[in-house]
Amino acid sequence: MDRIAVRQSGPLEGTVPISGAKNSVLKLMAATALAPGEFLLHNVPDIADVTWMGELLTTMGMTVERPAPGDLRIVHDGTLVPEAPYELVERMRASIVVLGPLLARYGRARVALPGGDDFGPRPIDMHLRGLEELGASFEFAHGYIEARADQLTGARVLLEFPSVGATENVLLAAVLAKGTTVIDNAAREPEIADLASFLNRMGARVLGAGSSTIQVDGVEQLAPVEHTVIPDRVEAATFLAALGVAGGELLLAGARHDHMDMYAAKLGEMGMRISPDSEGIWAMSTRRLRAVDVSTLPYPGLATDYKPLFVAMLATADGVGIVTENLFAGRFRYVDELVRMGADIRTEGHHAVVRGRPLLSGAPVRAPDIRAGAALVVAALKAEGETIVGDAHHIARGYERFVEKLRAIGADVRAC
Ligand code: EPU
Repeated sequence: MDRIAVRQSGPLEGTVPISGAKNSVLKLMAATALAPGEFLLHNVPDIADVTWMGELLTTMGMTVERPAPGDLRIVHDGTLVPEAPYELVERMRASIVVLGPLLARYGRARVALPGGDDFGPRPIDMHLRGLEELGASFEFAHGYIEARADQLTGARVLLEFPSVGATENVLLAAVLAKGTTVIDNAAREPEIADLASFLNRMGARVLGAGSSTIQVDGVEQLAPVEHTVIPDRVEAATFLAALGVAGGELLLAGARHDHMDMYAAKLGEMGMRISPDSEGIWAMSTRRLRAVDVSTLPYPGLATDYKPLFVAMLATADGVGIVTENLFAGRFRYVDELVRMGADIRTEGHHAVVRGRPLLSGAPVRAPDIRAGAALVVAALKAEGETIVGDAHHIARGYERFVEKLRAIGADVRAC
């Protein structure tokens, strides 16, 4: 069952429940290393990345269980082996975010160095420089980072780029540091604000999360809490893209329009109608999309995670659109797969020029990563014949019940 078969579909109709945000819950799980006791998280998606982060916490000595669907209980008895082994970090780069909390609470950490991935190299130099500003030191041996900090001390950390991971690692360390830390040029993603609100409930003093300056007044200790994870804006964006391609009318239950207003505005330019609703986001698409140009930027700009969705939408839109990637150098690998489906796309450096065609042609393709995999399924909704998306395990890393949710709104999709 590592493949998804898709046939031309539409119009899509109905309600899609939007799950909790992958890129928030993984960091909240890491943050539980900061305090002993019992944490309870709600709205936790049942996806592979959550399972793997759970395995990492278990390896370190915590108990992780699902008492009910959507809930995750994490128990930390105050003694952990502060180590993230290669097998887990290599599988999921987000594991690097345990570095900050382990250093803050245990004064040391041994974490495997993450490698590159399908987007190209993904360095962690800004994470390390930020933690060094707080007094940590690092040695590198046998593929591992050996980190130490007898006492973390608040400092000003100026990030060279508003990196999500670096902002989170520094924030997670600063909450238990002595004195005040100011993170300048911090990432502003809603997942960072969610992490800060989780930390504040634990007793931390974090101000300004969600803006580019975050101030953290260190405290001596933190306590466990209960928390509901924010909705996944990229999952919501994926269903909106599916609607754009296949047409119809959807309600994305639980989604937050204010977390994705730039994306909604772009889809509006392309001819869709989207508005916030008391239950989530309402959207309608009644005609072939119009081509637009798109450029990815850190939040509140258009997320790099939306980019494969735009390329998929533009592949059958009316006109020519230029998509520019400003975050990850190699994030165009799925384009070759779309070309196999008959899409007219040329890439040059950071740009893709997409000439819309009325209809693609179903073909066997492979998902290179989570978002690109989902985008191939979206594109296949407007491809004649059958498309088989292989390596669908990538999609399962980040999308809960993807096939089931698509089928429930009328898409001709099945796992095979
Ligand atoms: N960068 C550095 N040095 C660093 C850190 C980052 O050069 O120390 C560079 C990266 O190579 C990249 C850019 O800065 O070119 C942005 O990276 P960032 O640190 O912001 O990304 P991340 O924390 O590694 C998170 C999400 C990604 C999402 C990006 C950008 C998680 C687990 N991952 O990654 O989500 O694309 O932010 O918004 O939160 C996904 O969900 O599929 C996914 C890849």
